[in-house]
Amino acid sequence: MNKQILKDTAQQLMAGHKGLLAMDESIATCNKRFAEAGIPQTEEYRRKYRELIVTTPKLGECISGAILFDETTKQAAADGTPFIELLVKAGVIPGIKLDEGAKDMPAFPGEKITEGLDGLRERLKNYAAAGLKFAKWRAVIVISDGTPTDGSIYANAHALARYAALCQEANVVPIVEPEVLMDGSHTIERCFEVTQRVLHIVFEVLIQQRIYLEGMILKPNMVVSGISASVQASVDQVAHLTVECLLRCVPAAVPGVAFLSGGQPATDASAHLSAMHVKYKGKLPWALTFSFARAVQQPAMEYWQGKDENVTVAQQLFYKRLSINNAARRGEYTL
Ligand code: 13P
Repeated sequence: MNKQILKDTAQQLMAGHKGLLAMDESIATCNKRFAEAGIPQTEEYRRKYRELIVTTPKLGECISGAILFDETTKQAAADGTPFIELLVKAGVIPGIKLDEGAKDMPAFPGEKITEGLDGLRERLKNYAAAGLKFAKWRAVIVISDGTPTDGSIYANAHALARYAALCQEANVVPIVEPEVLMDGSHTIERCFEVTQRVLHIVFEVLIQQRIYLEGMILKPNMVVSGISASVQASVDQVAHLTVECLLRCVPAAVPGVAFLSGGQPATDASAHLSAMHVKYKGKLPWALTFSFARAVQQPAMEYWQGKDENVTVAQQLFYKRLSINNAARRGEYTL
């Protein structure tokens, strides 16, 4: 492990007003979103879509890094330029999703455990040689009457820590993503309590497994009301409870926190991030930014519909969502 490389990459990823782009939908997830938007679910359409994203003009002004799915790392634009090369030319650091998905956890009904540790050291070696400088692993935590259990939180935290250690050994910055899902009718207070428990355990286990905190990034959920809750928390409440929760759990040595959007409406996700910056300007030990997938890509994908003649406008819609989130990082976006 070269601590200086890890620290420098993590700091570059958190620079300025930029954020990260999660364009790492698995084949199954990408196809599901294509099906909803009426786009053919083939490898060529996934390639065309990823070309639209990575060739968006001024992409490098908005994002510092892009998380890719394995298939995308091997694909190229129509003119033959590999996507990884296009990103680097645009000033965007390429990263890779390393987990192999959240599966039903045996003996823990209703809970998930993320797989993908087997053979990870070899995979990391190959990805690092291909120029990928950071990675992501997503754990899924479900809120319901009887969940989450400590059994599932500890198992997921342990997998995150084992992944993070292997990444750091290969000088690849790990993004540690424990996502507490929004699904359910729970209150925002319950989301706070669960997110706090999860983050405490995640950092306990990361420290036990000797993760170099200065060379990692946390990708958490925001603290929000359950998606089907009858009372939805205000923007101010979400901003306040999210930051209070992070302040209790995330060591100051961690350089950055980059939120997932989790299925929040795109404008809500931006308003929440902006309100956090307004309320806590100059008071936070870590950088606070976005690492959204749906909340930045959805309008572009829906407009594109798989048609070449729609690419330019779809790219404009995508750029617009990115620049709104850049404004949010400066505390300049309101609903
Ligand atoms: P969303 O922003 O759509 O939640 O995706 C972020 C992500 O990378 C989930 O793993």
